[in-house]
Amino acid sequence: MLTDTERQEIESQLAAYPTKRAVCIDALKIVQRERGWISDESLKDIAALLEMTPDELDNVATFYNLIFRQPVGKHVILLCDSVSCWLMGYEKIRQHLNERLGIELGQTTEDGQFTLLPMVCLGDCDHAPVMMVDNDTHHDLDPEKIDQILDSYRKEA
Ligand code: FES
Repeated sequence: MLTDTERQEIESQLAAYPTKRAVCIDALKIVQRERGWISDESLKDIAALLEMTPDELDNVATFYNLIFRQPVGKHVILLCDSVSCWLMGYEKIRQHLNERLGIELGQTTEDGQFTLLPMVCLGDCDHAPVMMVDNDTHHDLDPEKIDQILDSYRKEA
């Protein structure tokens, strides 16, 4: 069930759009911000509020790769998997992340701290290789820098 806060925030967006269903991406982002991901139950509740079918909303949710339909870790690492980063050492960076985190792309660490996902170009190609952790971009990556970045997020925990 949506919380009062989630429902109110979604409803506050309605005036800015011509139809209820046009709010669907904002609604998914609002609920994901609160819960970390979009469960089937959340999807059904949002769809009902916006007078959509769950399948219609799921089609939108699964089209956007930043809407998570499975649980993710506390921090989501988006590793750029596009051409400039390939040329500038992507493979070494991916291997280092795999080793340091003990997971492959698409997986979450056992302690629930990090999920590692591939992502198309993050738009910072002249500073490749690049990754994002949550909303922060980290560029010109090398193994030492990755260790520092991971340690800084672990200290936050
Ligand atoms: S290819 Fe990696 S940031 Fe553009």
